[in-house]
Amino acid sequence: MDFAAQLKSSIDIVKVVGEYVRLRRVGATGRYVGLCPFHQEKTPSFNVNQTRQFFKCFGCGKGGDALNFVMEVDGLTFPEALKMLAERNGIPMPQRTEYTDANSKLRGALHDMHSIAAQLYAAALQGPQGREAREYLAKRGMNPELMEIFQLGYSDPSGQILTRRLTDERFTPEQMEASGLVRRRTEGAGYYDAFRGRLMFPIHDESGKVIAFGGRGMRDEDQPKYLNSPETPIYRKTSVLYNLHRARDGMRKHNRAVLVEGYMDVIGVYSAGVKEVVASCGTALTNPQARAMHRHADTVIVNFDPDDAGANAAERAIPLLLDESLHVKVLALGSDGTGAKLDPDEYVKRFGAEAYRAKLDSASGYFHWLADRARGRFDMRTTDGRMDAFKFLLPAVQRIPDKLERAAVVNDLAGYLGVDPGLVLEQFKRAALDRRTAAPTIRGQPPSPRPPATSPVTAIECILLNALLSSAGTRQQILPRLTVAMTSRFASHAIFDALRQMAAAGTVAFSELDARLDEPSRALLHGMVTADEMGDDAECLAQAEACLRRLEDDVRRRQLDELRTRVKAAEREGKAEEALQWFSELHRLEQEVKGE
Ligand code: CTP
Ligand code: MN
Repeated sequence: MDFAAQLKSSIDIVKVVGEYVRLRRVGATGRYVGLCPFHQEKTPSFNVNQTRQFFKCFGCGKGGDALNFVMEVDGLTFPEALKMLAERNGIPMPQRTEYTDANSKLRGALHDMHSIAAQLYAAALQGPQGREAREYLAKRGMNPELMEIFQLGYSDPSGQILTRRLTDERFTPEQMEASGLVRRRTEGAGYYDAFRGRLMFPIHDESGKVIAFGGRGMRDEDQPKYLNSPETPIYRKTSVLYNLHRARDGMRKHNRAVLVEGYMDVIGVYSAGVKEVVASCGTALTNPQARAMHRHADTVIVNFDPDDAGANAAERAIPLLLDESLHVKVLALGSDGTGAKLDPDEYVKRFGAEAYRAKLDSASGYFHWLADRARGRFDMRTTDGRMDAFKFLLPAVQRIPDKLERAAVVNDLAGYLGVDPGLVLEQFKRAALDRRTAAPTIRGQPPSPRPPATSPVTAIECILLNALLSSAGTRQQILPRLTVAMTSRFASHAIFDALRQMAAAGTVAFSELDARLDEPSRALLHGMVTADEMGDDAECLAQAEACLRRLEDDVRRRQLDELRTRVKAAEREGKAEEALQWFSELHRLEQEVKGE
C-alpha cells in the first residue's frame, strides 16, 4: 500500500471535512451534509459519505476523498496535502516524500521562510533591540500573554537580519524574492529585508501556518502606517481572514463571527473574551471571505471603525454577507451617546470587556443601521427624499434570504421612512421582476437549487396564506369569513389559527406571526411564503376569494357526507324520528347548494 492509501485508511473524512464545514448527520447510514465550501449556496447540497470516505457536492459537482478535499479547500498540492494530513494526525511520513514538483517545492520553501521569519521577529521583540517596540505595545495596553498568543514580533531596522538568516538556511535568491520578505536592491547587488523597524503581525492560513505579515510603523513618520506582505503563491489576500484559525472554534460554539477592520481590533476584542473575531486585513471584504465565515457560523456582527471610512466599508460588506445567506448585525460603537468615536480596540480599553460584550449581544439587525444611514443621507422632509432613501435600501432588502423576513422588512421600511406602503410595494415588485428577468447569477455561479418540497402542504393553503400575508385589504375581507372548519385540515392550520387570533387582536405583523408559532409551524411558514411573488391588493383578494369558495364547498361537502351517514345510521337502528330529522337537515343543505 502506498503512503497516500495508508494515510487515507487511517483518517476519517468526516473529521477532516468537519474542521472546515459544519456537518450535520442525516440518518443512520453515515451520511453527513453541510453548506458547500466551494460554491455559494443557501441550502446544503454538500455530502460526506463516511462509509465510503468521500465527499460530493450536488450543487457544483466537486467531489473526492479527504486528500482532494484539503487540496481544494486550502489550495494545496498533492504532496502538501499528504504532509498536512499526516502531521495533523500524528502519522509519520516515510523518509523520501520531499516535495518534488517545482510548485510544491516553492510553496514549501515559502512556508518555511515565513515560519523562520515569525520566530525571528518574535525573538527580536523580546530581545534588547525590541525595547522601543515593547514600550510602544505596553503604552497601547498590550500584555505579554497577548503578545505571545498573537505571535507579535519586531523587524530589525538594519534590514539585514532576516536576509542573512534565510541565506544561511540555503534558500535561493529566487525563493527569497518570491516570499515578499526580502527585496532585491535597485542599485548594486544583494538583498535586504522588506520589513524594517516595524511591529510585526503574523497572518496565518486556516490551518495555522504563517503565510504573510502586516507590519505597523511605530512613529507617525513611518509611512505607510501598515506595510503588508504582497500576494505570493501561499498568500491570496482576497481569501484570507486574519485570526480565522484561532477564531473558528469560538465561531462554531457561539454560531457567530465578529468582523472588525484591523489587527489591533482583533486583538482588543479577543482580549475581551470574544474569541470569534476576524478581520479582512486592509482590503474590502470579498465573497470567499464571507463564505469562510459562513463555514463556521450563521451570524456575522460587523463592528467597523465609527468613522466615515468604516461606515462605508460596512455598507459595502453587508450585501456581500447577505449574498452568502449570513444573518448580519451591525455594532456601531460611535452611536452610544457618549460622543466618543472609538474603534473596537479602544472601546474595550476604555469601557472594559464586559461593556463591550454587552454591546455585541445587543447589536441590532443591519437593517436598522442602514436605515439610519439613509435617513442621514437624504432629505426626509420631502417625498422624493424619502423615496430615494427607500431605493437606497432596496438592494439590501432584496438580499434577505428568508422570504418572510423580507416581507416584514418591507413593511417596517415603509413605516420607518414614512413612505406610502403602496409605493413601496410597487417598487419592490418592479425590482423583483427585474431580478427575475436579469441573469440570476452572482459572480458567475449558478443559483443554488431549491430545496425539495417535503411538507404535505396543499396548493390552496399556500396561495391563501400568501394572499393574506401580502395584503391588508385581503385580510380584512377574508379572515372574518375563514372559519376554523375551513382550515382545520390544513397542514398549516396552526398558522391560520395564529393569523385569526392576531387579526382579532388588531393588526398583523409578520415578525409577530413568526414569533407566535412553534418550531415546526415556523419552518412550514418559511417554506410557504413567497414574498417576491406578491400581487397587488386586487389580485390577492381575487385569489383569496377563489380559495375561500373552494374551502366553503369542501366544508359543505363534508357536512353533507356526515348528514348522510347519520341518516343511514338512524335508519339502521330503527330510530325513524331521528332519521327524519337528519334527513330534513340534509335536504335543506342540498337545496342551499343547488340554489347557489
Ligand atoms: N491597513 C493597511 N494599510 C494602512 C492602513 C490600514 O493595510 N496603511 C489595514 C490594516 O489591516 C489595519 C486595518 O487596515 O489593521 C485598519 O486600519 P486602522 O484602523 O488604521 O488600524 P488599526 O488596526 O486600528 O491599528 P491602530 O489602532 O494601531 O491604528
Ligand atoms: Mn483602527
